[in-house]
Amino acid sequence: MKKIIIINGPNLNLLGIRENEIYGKDTLEKIKSECEKKCAENKLEVFFFQSNNEGEIIDRIHEVNISYDGLIINPAAFTHSSIAILDSLRAITKPKIEVHLSNIYSREEYRKKSITSEGVDGLICGFGGNSYLLGIEAISKLIYT
Ligand code: DQA
Repeated sequence: MKKIIIINGPNLNLLGIRENEIYGKDTLEKIKSECEKKCAENKLEVFFFQSNNEGEIIDRIHEVNISYDGLIINPAAFTHSSIAILDSLRAITKPKIEVHLSNIYSREEYRKKSITSEGVDGLICGFGGNSYLLGIEAISKLIYT
């Protein structure tokens, strides 16, 4: 069985109580359990991770080449600021996809630039929690075909 990691950045632990009109009512726990179901359907083992700390996120990304077959990441606000996360993504040779709940291109000017997406194979945004499920379908195709 192939194995992926789903990494979530800062403030995503507050989903469900945070700006529901933008991010929806689902908690990260609910998204996690939907991802686990979707991964099982796609013959993928999944490790789901969230951190508010840039360094911890980078440490997890570094594990991907050794311990995983692919990576899905929602870098949250680090999307728009972190060259350090971009550099760590660039070092990963496995399939990698960026996801966002909201459509970052229809929001504030400062959210329209994704620095981190320059280090991934593709980006899915704007479908709420379904962005993660679409990301799993996409990574499954990259891993298995
Ligand atoms: C987000 C979009 C980011 O701009 C924001 O900082 C987040 C969530 C999303 O999933 O829509 O925290 O990554």
